[in-house]
Amino acid sequence: MSQIKYQRGFGNHFTSEAKPDTLPKFGHSPQKVNHGLYAEQLSGTAFTAPRAKNQRAWLYRIRPSVNHEPFRSYEQNRVLGSFHAHSPDIHATPQQLRWDPLVENVGADVDFVDGMVTLAGAGDTQLKNGIAIHTYTASKSMGRRSFYNSDGDLLIVPQRVPLLLRTEFGLLHVPPLHIAVVQRGIKFSVDFDPADSVSASNPAFGYICETFKGHFELPDLGPIGANGLANPEDFETPTALYEDASEDWTVINKFMGRFFCYNQSHSPYDVVAFSGNYIPYRYDLTKFNTIGSISYDHPDPSIFTVLTCPTDTHGTAVCDFVIFPPRWLVADDTFRPPYFHRNCMSEFMGNIVGVYDAKATGFVPGGASLHNMNSAHGPDAETFEKASNAPLKPAKVGEGSMSFMFESAYQLATTKYAIEESGKVQQDYWKAWADLKKNFQG
Ligand SMILES: [Fe+2]
Repeated sequence: MSQIKYQRGFGNHFTSEAKPDTLPKFGHSPQKVNHGLYAEQLSGTAFTAPRAKNQRAWLYRIRPSVNHEPFRSYEQNRVLGSFHAHSPDIHATPQQLRWDPLVENVGADVDFVDGMVTLAGAGDTQLKNGIAIHTYTASKSMGRRSFYNSDGDLLIVPQRVPLLLRTEFGLLHVPPLHIAVVQRGIKFSVDFDPADSVSASNPAFGYICETFKGHFELPDLGPIGANGLANPEDFETPTALYEDASEDWTVINKFMGRFFCYNQSHSPYDVVAFSGNYIPYRYDLTKFNTIGSISYDHPDPSIFTVLTCPTDTHGTAVCDFVIFPPRWLVADDTFRPPYFHRNCMSEFMGNIVGVYDAKATGFVPGGASLHNMNSAHGPDAETFEKASNAPLKPAKVGEGSMSFMFESAYQLATTKYAIEESGKVQQDYWKAWADLKKNFQG
């Protein structure tokens, strides 16, 4: 995959052309585009959004996207786009939850689209306000099937097996310990390198955060200064790559939480050149620069925010994407693991690899946990005992590990799949805290 070319930067105006002299010399929609191409705009914000927030891309392609057969419904009943608490698909609970690895036993014929299933969410796609958390298990590439989501942006976290995302803007190679963001409306296919031998017995698995509102952006750094956390130059967007192929394709669309599809007689990846700032991207999580205390106290986990998708309330997110990479802990006179807490936010966590430092056991790669709004949680009894008595020398934690959190301002409704059908909920998770004994002696 080293032959794939990327452009570096976050939210920049990127241009790329796979054939010279394709991009218009003036403006975006000339009377005739060079090489007999069509010009097509894809908007990511309202036309009238403030300039600093405005996102769109111009695609110069062999055929316009509208050149397709009628939509028809597509069977995919495992993804939700509406999270009303009394829906039969919802099993809402404030209970602290933890799941064993959520990779599914799938047959040989399940690709990324068919392998998606919803664990939790809030809100509704129709008013573009809310969030959904899914996993995927895939046993094959999408091949000549393409997908686009009209319900929101997708932040994809592969846990096992690298993804090769074919997008309208070019290729993104996304192995575990990387993430990709594919925004609303962008067509893409999830394929696998044959060398990875993806199959029913060796499926790809990962997590997805879908935001119905807005887009991910880099968090402000405030007094941290101009450098640190996720640096903009470490984000990578594709370069134009087109297929001039007349062949049968199926394009699948998620719209209002339901799936539709249409056929067309050519590849949807026929974009010869593009220009704009509404483009999918990838990021290598190991490039994250961690910041922490060098005196005392355990700072709030917001210091590990990679990307944030804001609500209209300043400082409050539809989703903060937060990671817990290997790092040094050096604080004096401090309980170093995460403190006991009750949050006005909801915290969904996943484990990509290794051992998370706040739990001795039970939170394993491919698994997940959810501590919903105001539900108390913190280190388990074993971790509390150990950390309360450990000598406070500088210590490296999380060596070889990477966990993450989708933290949301919304109350997350869990699905019937998450609680019942998956069969993966750890019924004894509450016991992690049952052995926290009374130390007070009056
Ligand atoms: Fe927490």
